Amino acid sequence: MKNFIAGLMVFTLLLFTGCEVRDKIETPKSDKEDTGIQIAMSFDSFVIERWQRDRDVFVSTVKELGATVNVQNANGDVEKQKEQIEYFIKKGVDVIVIVCIDSDSLKSTVQKAKDEGIKIIAYDRLVTNSDADLYITFDNEMVGTMMAEYLAENGAAGKNVLMLGGSPLDNNVPAVENGFMDVCKKEEMTVIDSIHCDGWRAEIAGDYIYEHEDTVREAAGIMCGNDNLAGQVIRALSEKRLAGDLPVVGQDADLEACQRIVEGTQGMTVYKPVERLAKRAAECAIALAQGMKLEGDDISTINDGTYDIPYIGLTPIAVTKDNLDEVIISSGFHLKEDVYLNVPEKMPGN
Ligand code: BGC
Repeated sequence: MKNFIAGLMVFTLLLFTGCEVRDKIETPKSDKEDTGIQIAMSFDSFVIERWQRDRDVFVSTVKELGATVNVQNANGDVEKQKEQIEYFIKKGVDVIVIVCIDSDSLKSTVQKAKDEGIKIIAYDRLVTNSDADLYITFDNEMVGTMMAEYLAENGAAGKNVLMLGGSPLDNNVPAVENGFMDVCKKEEMTVIDSIHCDGWRAEIAGDYIYEHEDTVREAAGIMCGNDNLAGQVIRALSEKRLAGDLPVVGQDADLEACQRIVEGTQGMTVYKPVERLAKRAAECAIALAQGMKLEGDDISTINDGTYDIPYIGLTPIAVTKDNLDEVIISSGFHLKEDVYLNVPEKMPGN
């Protein structure tokens, strides 16, 4: 009976999936209703600010939907992530949600889970060639498009730009770069140099600025794979007295990036409402655990290299000083006092 009620509830939720309206629908409070469902999640790491938010919202939504959740952190170690997934398989969980470290390395581990009837969700990053039951993320190409468009509109059109990307093992990285390159072609921007930062280590991007000053001086804009990389890049540019001279862009809307935007050293960040991602992933996890087919206007398919798998690609939002208050502060993503901490005189209303 309990399972039936929980199933009915999730079914009702799924009826509303996909459209913008669904964000306004309250997730029914069912934390008293124990479905017996076990969800497991393995994260790459929590070094980047956003992942803690992803975790918190995912965990609370799963609990609200009456299931238990076991979260593990692989700390950037691919082998450890495989061990965690193996552990979840032994435990006999219903669904494993993975923020993979290396998109290409989990095929056989995922296969073992699938052989046991466990459902797999690739969260934010695609697990390639693995026939996952769902890949849910933000539209990564669009992230790259927004980055390049900002640079083009802010003095880099027809000029040189630098592309300092994230981990070469993360499938999101080429997706973002594809979107970026498409606009570069259109706007006649030349990528005069590009690097990848192993393990998303931001110091690699910072060191690049110190070690390639001449190339940096030839660039009219810098694309950074995320805000953490942008932070190190801007620190290095400040030391060279170049910060604020050329536009720098990142993604994630980290608090420090939003501070840099209002201070004028970072031009743009791409905001990804991760609460929406985590909540939707949690709902899908419960539905998959109950053997339901995922349905909703937001679901399409994507090729993972071998298989066409269900795909949800949420829409990111470009944030500059012009819309930061509206997008970041009004939504409660960050507090006004925190964003304007170093420039209180610029705080709206002051
Ligand atoms: C995510 C970014 C994040 C980066 C580093 C990427 O896969 O899409 O939001 O900043 O990983 O953790």
